[in-house]
Amino acid sequence: MESRIMEHPILGEIKKGRKVSFYFDGKKLEGYEGEPIAAALKAEGVMVHRYTSRKHLPRGIFCAIGRCTDCVMVVDGRPNIRTCVTPLKEGMKVQTQYGVSAASFKEQEEKGNEKI
Ligand code: FES
Repeated sequence: MESRIMEHPILGEIKKGRKVSFYFDGKKLEGYEGEPIAAALKAEGVMVHRYTSRKHLPRGIFCAIGRCTDCVMVVDGRPNIRTCVTPLKEGMKVQTQYGVSAASFKEQEEKGNEKI
């Protein structure tokens, strides 16, 4: 059974665009152009999108309509991108978000919590 999201409550029916490559934490994956980034990740089995700032708890798709921020990730170097409503494009660099950074909490600690 395919786990790809094909109908979205806000974006409507997801039309499969051409197959494109993108990068998740440096790993090359494939999805369809125009589908939500979160849908492409889910189809590849990726369910954790970010870790919370204080307790470092994992978060992923929750509302899927751009309201809750549980799916935010660092996309092409920009943090806090709601992946459930952001269309996938060829070559995108999608990274797990730790607090508000793509750097792991350990890296952030080592840098003395300066902005990285
Ligand atoms: S899952 Fe709630 S904003 Fe994306």
